[in-house]
Amino acid sequence: MPSSHTPVPERPEPLLSVRDLRVRFRAKGCGGGGVVEAVRGVSFSLQTGKILAVVGGSGSGKSVTALALGRLLPPVPECFVSGSICYDGRDVTGLSSGELRRLRGREIAYIFQEPCAALNPAYSIGFQIGESLRIHSPGAGNLKERITQLLEEVGIQNAANRLGAYPHELSGGQAQRVMIAMALCCSPRLLVADEPTTALDATVQRQILDLLARLRMQHKMAILLITHNFGVVSGLADEVAVMADGRIVEHGPVARVLGQPEHATTRTLLAAIPRMRARPGLRQEAISSSQVQPVSRR
Ligand SMILES: Nc1ncnc2c1ncn2[C@@H]1O[C@H](COP(=O)(O)OP(=O)(O)OP(=O)(O)O)[C@@H](O)[C@H]1O
Ligand SMILES: [Mg+2]
Repeated sequence: MPSSHTPVPERPEPLLSVRDLRVRFRAKGCGGGGVVEAVRGVSFSLQTGKILAVVGGSGSGKSVTALALGRLLPPVPECFVSGSICYDGRDVTGLSSGELRRLRGREIAYIFQEPCAALNPAYSIGFQIGESLRIHSPGAGNLKERITQLLEEVGIQNAANRLGAYPHELSGGQAQRVMIAMALCCSPRLLVADEPTTALDATVQRQILDLLARLRMQHKMAILLITHNFGVVSGLADEVAVMADGRIVEHGPVARVLGQPEHATTRTLLAAIPRMRARPGLRQEAISSSQVQPVSRR
């Protein structure tokens, strides 16, 4: 125990702290008795304004972990969740449905891989962003101006003339920008981005990652970035957690995990990236077989 004269460095309380998260699904088609253990004791924390990348192969439990944070998983008896999820000092697992709605509407926002599937094809993007603004941040200023401003902020060209555009008129990258604009409507302090660039080609992928990097700086937003691709992690995330079989098998600062991977899963995922461009601070010899394209920090 430190003496009363020893200064203890203060570490800010994390925005999000997850302890021993476990998620089991009742397996369908197994005669009712089987269970799928999707998440098996995951613990991590995330500080305000930081980006944690969760990387892992298909089925490793990344999305289920992400959905558990906002209590978005199916209810019992289809799905059983245990462990603690503490957001800004509050235990998410104990929130009432009203408190949960407020948490999802004002604090935690999600973006997913298929932006077009999340947008309603029957309504213009201006209308959909307007609805989001009306629900999450009513009042304050002219609605049309606020929608235009949001679209400009996420890099939609000629925003004022695009309010009437329908989702099918957008490219994949534009649709993801619109989803990010909708996520920003509630000024979230935590953005959960589940494979936000997987459906996009490499150039657009980079632009969206650049946008996330800029928004985290401007809005001091924490981001939980889920991906199966180590290529999107470098230069964007502060820390990376590697998942395999429902567990975090390696977790540390990005430069350490990329430069000196300790777990076989990390090495396999790194080797799966075709080419690697070295970044200052990374050990070239440890990463030369793979490619990680840096995202420019602004
Ligand atoms: N609603 C559900 N019912 C039953 N099992 C589920 C359900 N959702 C997920 N699972 C199972 O939980 C495990 C983890 O799934 P999860 O979607 O978290 O994987 P992932 O790491 O996100 O994979 P991917 O990279 O393919 O998106 C898988 O075995 C999956 O089949
Ligand atoms: Mg997933």
